[in-house]
Amino acid sequence: MWGGRYKLGPAEIMERINASIGFDRRLYAQDIAGSLAHCDMLVAQGILTAKDGRAIKRGLAKVRAEIEAGRFRFSTRLEDIHMNVESRLAELIGPAAGRLHTARSRNDQVALDVRLWVRDTIDRLEPMLRELQAALIDRAEEHTATIMPGFTHLQTAQPITFGHHLLAYVEMFGRDRSRLADCRARLNESPLGAAALAGSPHPIDPRRTARALHFDRPMANSLDAVSDRDYVVEFVAAASLAAVHLSRLAEEIVIWCSAPFRFIALSDAFTTGSSIMPQKRNPDAAELTRAKTGRIVGAFVALCTILKGLPLTYQKDMQEDKEPLFDAADSLELGIAAMTGMVRDLKANPARMRAVAAADYSVATDLADWLVRKVGLPFRQAHHVTGTLVAKAAERRVDLDALSLADMRAVEPRIDRSVYRVLTVEASVNARKSLGGTAPANVARAVREARRRFLAKRGRGR
Ligand code: ARG
Repeated sequence: MWGGRYKLGPAEIMERINASIGFDRRLYAQDIAGSLAHCDMLVAQGILTAKDGRAIKRGLAKVRAEIEAGRFRFSTRLEDIHMNVESRLAELIGPAAGRLHTARSRNDQVALDVRLWVRDTIDRLEPMLRELQAALIDRAEEHTATIMPGFTHLQTAQPITFGHHLLAYVEMFGRDRSRLADCRARLNESPLGAAALAGSPHPIDPRRTARALHFDRPMANSLDAVSDRDYVVEFVAAASLAAVHLSRLAEEIVIWCSAPFRFIALSDAFTTGSSIMPQKRNPDAAELTRAKTGRIVGAFVALCTILKGLPLTYQKDMQEDKEPLFDAADSLELGIAAMTGMVRDLKANPARMRAVAAADYSVATDLADWLVRKVGLPFRQAHHVTGTLVAKAAERRVDLDALSLADMRAVEPRIDRSVYRVLTVEASVNARKSLGGTAPANVARAVREARRRFLAKRGRGR
């Protein structure tokens, strides 16, 4: 492509370090879509004849068909996807192929291709996150009144409902969707027309190519157009946070299906056995989803590190953005699909969850709140009285409701029989009707609201 001033070919190692075709072939559809739009614009502006334009478009369609049929011969010698496509186009249609690159450089071309690829990827992942939310909401609806222990410090804190717990993740994935939508809105400007870096002397119409490729507008500054990779970083940042959320849910699944917990079971479809321990059912998909977070966050760090020292404008370093980008997107896609599968697959064990929720004085706060409401104690004092009662019960190895009224009155004489009504896990969750609280009635309403907020047809993000 630059034979003019070159006499010798590249060293073998030069070819190897330089080539990106091994991974950027994934951009073929975006590359060809960009070329078709560019070609139409050149014809409309009288830069290219209609006849050459037709030949180029026919040729590009043929190249695309060859790639899709697996009949295309990619060549490392031709470095990247852009030159592989152009070179094949020349074989197919002859010298007219050489006119396609008028008023264009691989610099604005690759910036365009990656932008389109990130946009397409967001459009694929965002509905997958929505599907995951739908799965969580369906399961939450089944479990609006299923009681489980709520934890802080992984210590039993207060009883909550399983549905409420699942809906917490629906909120996280809702924010992830809206972050992807923000990223999409900001990236949706076309770099075409910047050419190598400074713009073009030809009478081009960047607005036309922008429109044809469904961008909101062309980019304002040609130097920025060829050197900006913010959209890659933003996408991978949003992917990192989504992966962190998937990983937290994965971690809970791993814990919940462990033998000491037994809160849930995963079916054969989402577990693996052990080659030595016949009793084992391992939650490998959850563990791997948790681990893929490392790759995705690693991609984010790699991208920031690649970009941080680059002067304007295009630097070849930017070629190294693709592998982390692709790997992060692939890992996230797998993780979302696996978690959606597990959420739909898991079988809850409500009896076990309730038993654990009722242990370890989880209703102690309810007793303190009762003392505030019925006896009028300041909360700090109620906390102290309750603490004394918990110590007494613990000493005898019994639950709070096994203490006699006399035992309780020895600590606080104004306690009456009605206190026993708040000392069950059911009473505890039913009482928490404050906005966003765990009461089953709240959760049933929250399920309906979540469907409206996240699953309604126009529901993008929030
Ligand atoms: N393969 C290159 C990349 O991915 C395409 C752009 C090359 N531009 C250049 N001036 N060498 O960044």
